[in-house]
Amino acid sequence: MKKTPPQQLHKPVLPTQTIAVLAPRSGENYLDLTAGYGGHAQVIIEKIGSAHLATLVDRDDYAIASLQALYKSSARIIKSDFATAVDNLMRADEQFDMILLDLGVSSPQLDNADRGFSIQRSGPLDMRMDQTGPQTAADLVNTWSEERLTQIIRDYGEEPKAHRIARAIIEARPLKTTNELAHVVQHALRGVRNKIHPATRTFQAIRIALNDEIGQLVHTLAILPQLLKPGGRVAIISFHSLEDRLVKQCFKEQSEAGFTAELQVLTKKPISGAIHDVHNLRARSAKLRAAVKIKTERAYHANSG
Ligand SMILES: C[S@@+](CC[C@H](N)C(=O)[O-])C[C@H]1O[C@@H](n2cnc3c(N)ncnc32)[C@H](O)[C@@H]1O
Repeated sequence: MKKTPPQQLHKPVLPTQTIAVLAPRSGENYLDLTAGYGGHAQVIIEKIGSAHLATLVDRDDYAIASLQALYKSSARIIKSDFATAVDNLMRADEQFDMILLDLGVSSPQLDNADRGFSIQRSGPLDMRMDQTGPQTAADLVNTWSEERLTQIIRDYGEEPKAHRIARAIIEARPLKTTNELAHVVQHALRGVRNKIHPATRTFQAIRIALNDEIGQLVHTLAILPQLLKPGGRVAIISFHSLEDRLVKQCFKEQSEAGFTAELQVLTKKPISGAIHDVHNLRARSAKLRAAVKIKTERAYHANSG
């Protein structure tokens, strides 16, 4: 059977717009903090002219194996969560011309039932992006309190019936499979009709909490400017309103800080996947924001003053 090339397993979101804002030039270096199956990375590496200029980070073993197959020893490939990776790169005094964060999950993570992210295909309640992570979604749903479950389902799932769902989960414990969880949520929400599966928001909430996706982003946003060279560009694609708000707020703070401002915003409004990438289903909720690091003269002033 013909094998699907890894980069075709995941179709990159907003590729043209991402390249337009990052504006890669030959010889520049590139940090991809969510390299996945290398879809964006491949296009950027072509423009900068060498994979040796790329640092590719992901916390998923399958993504790392796929990147290693693609780039062997040419690109630097780091298996890590990106919050730890940016700490290490900062400590090593590294700086980049371009940084990309394409948040959320990849298509292979969603499509492979064994990973436990899928509502459609039953699998173990896992949902770990990093297969070596200490806790699975089953641990979370079977041990967390009603209050904690309600809070994440409300905050990360933006689910108005969070409390009803949390109570139903507690009553149905122990839950072992994605099918069981989907069924419990569907039953708890009977009468609530929607175009999407009724458990979609709950699955999203559990995934975000389990993988500490908001904590990872908040930590990384604060460090990003230090990892950019003067004139360096950062692009962030998010799929959740909470994430987009954090990115917007961070860019705003770091661009409106007067003399100490580090970034200049390149996207006044986010570039929307629903408008610009209509043939990619995963892009429906994507929002792309970008900024450039200001070429500051602060170093000169600090030395002279
Ligand atoms: C949307 S996919 C990226 C796809 C990639 N841009 C491409 O075109 O192939 C997101 C990837 O980021 C990884 N990821 C998400 N959060 C992460 C984190 N905090 N640290 C490291 N990797 C993360 C996931 O494992 C997944 O492979």
